Amino acid sequence: MKKPNLAVLGATGVVGREILSILEEQKVEFNDIKLLSSKRSAGSKMTFAGKEYTVLEATPDVFDGVNIVLASAGASTSKVLAPEAAKRGAVFIDNSSAFRMEEDVPLVIAGVNDDDLKNHKGIIANPNCSTSQLMLVLKPLNDYAEIKRLIVSTYQAVSGAGLAAMNELTDNTKVNLIGMPYECKAFKHEIGFNLIPQIDVFTENGYTKEEMKVTNETRKILHLDKSVPISCTAVRVPVYRGHSEAVTIEFKKEITAQKTRELLENAYGVKVYDDIDNYVYPTPKECAGKDPVYVGRIRKSIAFDNAIDLFCVADNLRIGAALNTVRLAMKVIEMGLY
Ligand SMILES: NC(=O)c1ccc[n+]([C@@H]2O[C@H](COP(=O)([O-])OP(=O)(O)OC[C@H]3O[C@@H](n4cnc5c(N)ncnc54)[C@H](OP(=O)(O)O)[C@@H]3O)[C@@H](O)[C@H]2O)c1
Repeated sequence: MKKPNLAVLGATGVVGREILSILEEQKVEFNDIKLLSSKRSAGSKMTFAGKEYTVLEATPDVFDGVNIVLASAGASTSKVLAPEAAKRGAVFIDNSSAFRMEEDVPLVIAGVNDDDLKNHKGIIANPNCSTSQLMLVLKPLNDYAEIKRLIVSTYQAVSGAGLAAMNELTDNTKVNLIGMPYECKAFKHEIGFNLIPQIDVFTENGYTKEEMKVTNETRKILHLDKSVPISCTAVRVPVYRGHSEAVTIEFKKEITAQKTRELLENAYGVKVYDDIDNYVYPTPKECAGKDPVYVGRIRKSIAFDNAIDLFCVADNLRIGAALNTVRLAMKVIEMGLY
């Protein structure tokens, strides 16, 4: 098979750099690669796979001859550049929220709903980070016992809000330690020694946009019926890297904690990390920089008749963004969809 020409859009950003390192790590084969940014970083040099590249400005014409674009440059940039890339014959894999809920754009987690990739019309969307890790956990459970109701609480790291937010956690913590007042910039409230029960803006129903992304994207990816109730509360916590989620899943069919553990032990992209006698359960510090979604605290829920409670943690910059983008590019190549 012909090796593809790749482009990494947003190559100078937090997610873009992670995409480059995973492309190298996974030894993805390509013919040519372009590293793209805005005018700001265009002309700067970056090293990738031992070779120096000049970063190019992402203009529409730069996509001529490109087969696959791995994009993480924000929704407004994707809205302009994705149709331009698709028009030129490229497959645009987008990390932003620009196209996720468009009917003719597949929203895919590699290993969960790969077949949906076949319906792409030039644009493929990567889900929101909190949704991404959850999908790998829910897929085998939904296949076995069918989800009836889902309740999720997230504890999200500051890296999900970019570099400025990471710096704010450091500065805010330092200032708090010397007892001085801190003036917030990236967040609406202090994040040092605190947590903030708001991520993104509020919508009409009182949920935030981030919370509604989990609801709507989960339905689309798992092909769940609109009647399945899904509720999410998303909270920003003073952690640099690694999103955690407390999840309660009510099922239509009988399922035990033991069966849940067994299904997850055999699931793609998931690692069961659950031994309460020895204080074994996932924490963000342990999971940062790693690929699997770690699951622990698996137990029969006492809140509903046929439900499971569990706690899952994953690196938001990897499975929540860059890793799935690279995995999708690899699927597109493997399935000959470019
Ligand atoms: N951080 C996460 O956990 C996470 C997870 C999932 C999805 N995402 C999504 O991924 C995207 C990037 O996030 P990030 O954290 O990597 O942001 P970031 O660190 O701010 O990087 C943004 C990147 O986009 C480029 N860019 C900005 N405007 C552009 C334009 N008009 N044309 C071309 N390139 C442009 C920037 O280039 P310059 O260097 O020239 O500014 C930079 O390379 C966002 O859509 C975000 O929602 C992030």
